[in-house]
Amino acid sequence: MKHFLDIADYSTAELEGLIRLAVQLKQEWAAGGNRPVLAGKVLGMVFEKPSLRTRVSFDVGMLHLGGNALYLSPAEIGLGKRESTADVARVLSGYVQGIMARVFDPEHISELAKWSRVPVINGLSDASHPCQAMADMLTIYEHFGHLRGLKIAYVGDTNNVTKSLGEAAARFGCSMSVASPAGYQFDEDTRDHLDKLGLRLTVTEDAAFAVAGADVIYTDTWISMGQETESEQRRKVFPPYQVNETLLKKAQPHTVVLHCLPAHRGEEITDPVADGPQSLLFEQASNRLHAQKAILVHLMSSNQLNF
Ligand code: CP
Ligand code: NVA
Repeated sequence: MKHFLDIADYSTAELEGLIRLAVQLKQEWAAGGNRPVLAGKVLGMVFEKPSLRTRVSFDVGMLHLGGNALYLSPAEIGLGKRESTADVARVLSGYVQGIMARVFDPEHISELAKWSRVPVINGLSDASHPCQAMADMLTIYEHFGHLRGLKIAYVGDTNNVTKSLGEAAARFGCSMSVASPAGYQFDEDTRDHLDKLGLRLTVTEDAAFAVAGADVIYTDTWISMGQETESEQRRKVFPPYQVNETLLKKAQPHTVVLHCLPAHRGEEITDPVADGPQSLLFEQASNRLHAQKAILVHLMSSNQLNF
């Protein structure tokens, strides 16, 4: 059974195939609508955490492709609490043709995939956010016309988003510089993992050094979902890592700014940058729809994508 659990599970050729399919589906939609290749199919969406983009873009993506989606809230499922994750996977597999899950513990994603008889999509865990990384790469590709050789500077907390972005940068031939305060950088295992994927990675505590020569500056919240008790401490250490106009000037005139959203304006990013001419934030958010349609078609349509 094919799933979409992490970027690193896919080869460069497969990921390039998904980006090409996303571009085609986006053009098809703009030209009047997508063909109903997922007619009669239902995606079960299991959420342990809140969401705007992931929930709406998967739901609307399924509708555009002729199918349906079912939102299952944290209160309803209780993965591993009301019922074991293995049982949830086996029960859902009898009703729906695909499962998308947003969880805290990444083991819940692996467990769903292990027991499910239908494709499972990782809609974010504490460890990774691969669907976001595909939308990010689609956005960068559309803007620059290519990906290979671009430099992505990530400024802020190294989290689930950073890890998937690093995997995608490795697969698509981008380099990455990551600026974070001591104690909030990639751990050894993640660095080894990205190194094995062949990522050209620079790790620094100096945000200005990281953005020098960058084509893309990327940031995300200082306080991810589930880290709320650390808010006070994090708000003390992260201010030097704010993406503001002063930092942006240290990059290049053509540098673009990305953020997976939700943004905490005035913390990791300022209004003039988020709303400025170098921001691609809302193109990036829209591209969740198109990138995920490609993933849905690849996993759930009877005409499997031929890479
Ligand atoms: N970027 C992202 O995944 O947004 P949501 O948390 O709103 O789904
Ligand atoms: N790192 C953030 C991403 C939100 C889409 C979080 O996990 O809360």
